[in-house]
Amino acid sequence: MSPVASNPDVKLFDVEKIRKDFPILSRSVNGHPLVYLDNAASSQKPDQVLDRMDHYYRNTHANVHRGVHTLSQEATDLFESSRSRIASFIGAPSDKEVIFTRGTTESINLVAYTFGLSQLKEGDEIILSAMEHHSNIVPWQIVCGMKGATIKVIPVFDDGTLDLEWFRKNITTKTRLVSVTHVSNALGTINPVSTIIRIAHEHGIPVLLDGAQASPHLQIDVKELDVDFYAFSSHKMYGPTGMGIIYGKSSWLDVLPPWQGGGEMIKDVNWAGTTYNSIPFKYEAGTPDIAGAIGLAAACDYINSLDRNAMVQYEHLLLTTCTEAMNSIPGVKAIGTAADKASVYSFNVKGLHPYDIGTLLDQQGIAVRTGHHCAQPLMDRFSIPGTIRASFAVYNTFEEIEKLVRATHKAIKILS
Ligand SMILES: Cc1ncc(COP(=O)(O)O)c(C=O)c1O
Repeated sequence: MSPVASNPDVKLFDVEKIRKDFPILSRSVNGHPLVYLDNAASSQKPDQVLDRMDHYYRNTHANVHRGVHTLSQEATDLFESSRSRIASFIGAPSDKEVIFTRGTTESINLVAYTFGLSQLKEGDEIILSAMEHHSNIVPWQIVCGMKGATIKVIPVFDDGTLDLEWFRKNITTKTRLVSVTHVSNALGTINPVSTIIRIAHEHGIPVLLDGAQASPHLQIDVKELDVDFYAFSSHKMYGPTGMGIIYGKSSWLDVLPPWQGGGEMIKDVNWAGTTYNSIPFKYEAGTPDIAGAIGLAAACDYINSLDRNAMVQYEHLLLTTCTEAMNSIPGVKAIGTAADKASVYSFNVKGLHPYDIGTLLDQQGIAVRTGHHCAQPLMDRFSIPGTIRASFAVYNTFEEIEKLVRATHKAIKILS
């Protein structure tokens, strides 16, 4: 029996209809129909997103916020209503708590350079985890270096879960911030972020979550999480590249200093000094990516148009089906075996280099990612140079998983 037939909720999930929304899925690669399993790096875009952005540029484009003319007002309305829909997508109490950025990387840098530079001092500590993406490591290394603060790292167990006991013991009066990923891009682990936030808040310490891998898959409610800052990228959740947001509690955003200076973020400028605009504009210097914001809101609308419960179950079934089938291939070893995972199957093949497997999969039309996935400290933790990563989106199918399994068998045979 197919996995779909055995699960009534998943049966309701019409993946063939969804696939028709994504024009790129009908192309072939190296003579094979494309099997796109690199969604954790960037997902494909549906017509609903592409059309909305195209329509904006063809019909409504003008600069926002500073025009009395009709086009500028229409563009401003589209831009601000996009902010509003993105805010409600993540359960933000107020639109002004959503700041547009270029993506997760810029969002984390924004917090590092505003919170970090203003709140950290010599001898302070921040806590990250051993499974962070470089985007949630390097900005903190730079800022902690500038301020004389130290980074402490929550260890990862062999199955790819975090050592929460270590976290409980190592959060101290010197800790100023906890910043961890919601879902690991390299392992797929869904971290127990509610518990992490509760423990941190018991000590009066704010938490930043890197939601880059969570926003395409999980229902996010920043209010219920009570998280202080939440970052994600549009391009991993069916929206355009170069766009993302940082959610921040207004109690933080109101008091932290601005980051980049320029137009839009000011109230008054004169040679004696500058006063700053209120949030969110205080953090949005310069002309924003208007089409990008419209595209991200369209992506949120697209995800909302799906049956979210069925989507989560369907993606989970893709992952468990892939895990079971791939684990049964001789020589294949899964990296990251936590019970709670989202849409990532990372693996290695004994005696073979990830890059060689990835290349042979590509020759068979299958796009996976190979390498360290911008998580070199995590690769060091597992004493591996990298992994081969298959990552799923709403449009992937069980047939595609079968193709991955067959192609992996073939690649191993060729290379052994
Ligand atoms: C967990 C995580 N954090 C941060 C990033 C950086 O995202 P971006 O390159 O969109 O800024 C990624 C991208 O792969 C990621 O997976």
